[in-house]
Amino acid sequence: MISKIKTKGITQGLTSYGDTAFSLFLRKAFIKAMGYGDKALDRPIIGITNTFSDFNPCHGNVPQIIRAVERGVMQSGGMPMTFPTISIHESFSYPTSMYLRNLMALDTEEMMRAQPVDAVVLIGGCDKTIPAQLMAAAAQDIPVIVIPTGPMLTGEHKGERLGACTDCRRFWGKFRAGEIDQYEIDSVNEKLAPTTGTCMVMGTASTIACMVEAMGMSLPGAAAIPAVYAERLRHSEDVGRRIVELAKEPISPKEIMTPEAITNALIVLHAIGGSTNALIHFTAIAAKLGIKLDLKKFDELGRKIPVLVDLKPSGSFYMEHLYEDGGLMSVLKELKPWLHLDCMTVSGKTLGDEIDAHQFDGISKVIRTASDPVYPVGGLAYLSGNIAPRGAVIKHASAMPKLLKHRGRAVVFSSLEDLTLRIDSPDLDVTADDVLVLQNAGPKGSPGMPEAGYLPIPKKLAQAGVKDMVRISDARMSGTAFGTIVLHITPEAADGGPLAIVRNGDYIELDVDARSIHLDVSDEEIKLRLTQLGTTPPSAKSGYRKLYLSTVTQADLGCDFDFMLPEITRETPVLKTK
Ligand code: FES
Repeated sequence: MISKIKTKGITQGLTSYGDTAFSLFLRKAFIKAMGYGDKALDRPIIGITNTFSDFNPCHGNVPQIIRAVERGVMQSGGMPMTFPTISIHESFSYPTSMYLRNLMALDTEEMMRAQPVDAVVLIGGCDKTIPAQLMAAAAQDIPVIVIPTGPMLTGEHKGERLGACTDCRRFWGKFRAGEIDQYEIDSVNEKLAPTTGTCMVMGTASTIACMVEAMGMSLPGAAAIPAVYAERLRHSEDVGRRIVELAKEPISPKEIMTPEAITNALIVLHAIGGSTNALIHFTAIAAKLGIKLDLKKFDELGRKIPVLVDLKPSGSFYMEHLYEDGGLMSVLKELKPWLHLDCMTVSGKTLGDEIDAHQFDGISKVIRTASDPVYPVGGLAYLSGNIAPRGAVIKHASAMPKLLKHRGRAVVFSSLEDLTLRIDSPDLDVTADDVLVLQNAGPKGSPGMPEAGYLPIPKKLAQAGVKDMVRISDARMSGTAFGTIVLHITPEAADGGPLAIVRNGDYIELDVDARSIHLDVSDEEIKLRLTQLGTTPPSAKSGYRKLYLSTVTQADLGCDFDFMLPEITRETPVLKTK
């Protein structure tokens, strides 16, 4: 049901002085110092998050987006008020961006609560930013609309389209293998990210933007419009107009992000061959709403939903091509039989109405039909076994098919430092049939669960032409990466998970069809090794690191802080039958 409340504008959430009239008097006095008059302050107040940073090229267009939103807000009689929050870029976040996601969620949540806003436009894009913003939005009743910054355009190298960051990894692999020289790798470096915007493959940023649109938290078209196109700004102006209507007739994020809407997003995750990271983020967003994202049900979805979008890293094309094919709404049209169509969206219409209103009369380049898919089943699978009692995940759509059932000898690296020191050693005892194991790279282990699950192929094997191996870890992987890579092994090694007791020479069996990852060591031996191990999880004496290490949850709970999680009372529903 849609609740109706009057906007409270500048008068809400007054600072505590023990005299509310004085608090308002003071607030008005100060805001007038910025040049706002009483007439402006009587309007609905629309907050706009400013996540621009010189360290965040994925958000390089945020100032223009803000101006466009402001125009739309003013056209509809609202008052735009822009405020800063943390901005996180993947390559400028030490130790990892994931370590900071919860800090951004806390920052955004509390600033939305602290300031007198009737509704908020959340502008995000780079991988962790929109998840953090939605975690914040899920915790309160203020209406919000998300604007993704949008994908970059592609570059070109020797007549070939190039994109961040699948091609970053591909060319770096060639450089490591000695296939290209320093001049060529430097030249590629100039072209991988030719405009502002988010990575233009179906990496984490594009995946999240698509899932958010499917969930109804952004206006149609939001996910795929390139960052530097004028249409991105016209879309932002539309958001500005619509958010004022939402402020006057609120639909809260809780009314939109229902278990059914989250399931719609998960269906899209499979159909776009999206990023494994999205599972952790959507687990965290759902948990904020008291909803359990059941990974086994997610896996069942994957056995029915085909991959329909031919984008890198699982396919061949880029986000600008998805845009040319009509964007995500064209994909949703194809997925219509599986979707919960009566879910409400921020537009005030249901998802079904929005899909029906979508027109595309071109010829699709990258969107396939369900009868002629890119890959016959969903892109991700949930695994479990004695080495991953609470689960693990693999993006099998971008794995080498012959490795999806594989038994191999473990070659173990006990940490990222150990990996860095030994992976390229000519003395490393490794063959292409071995299984590379990385320990202590989970949420607490590293800390911040780095995107280190894409272990490099040892140099001597890469030079011999080996392109893929089975690799397993408690780490994450960039959504732009590819290979036969098992991630998010839970519980992590540093928190006492059995991954910690794997030794060089043990045998590991991966069977994706059976959804199993198994350490071929007896239960008694595993117990004995765990007792001998006596793991003490990492800790810190003070500061954010102490808060993080003492409260971060494991991947199956979304890696949120444990004190931020409400009681789980609902679950995502089972798949609608087609
Ligand atoms: Fe920001 Fe890829 S680095 S989206």
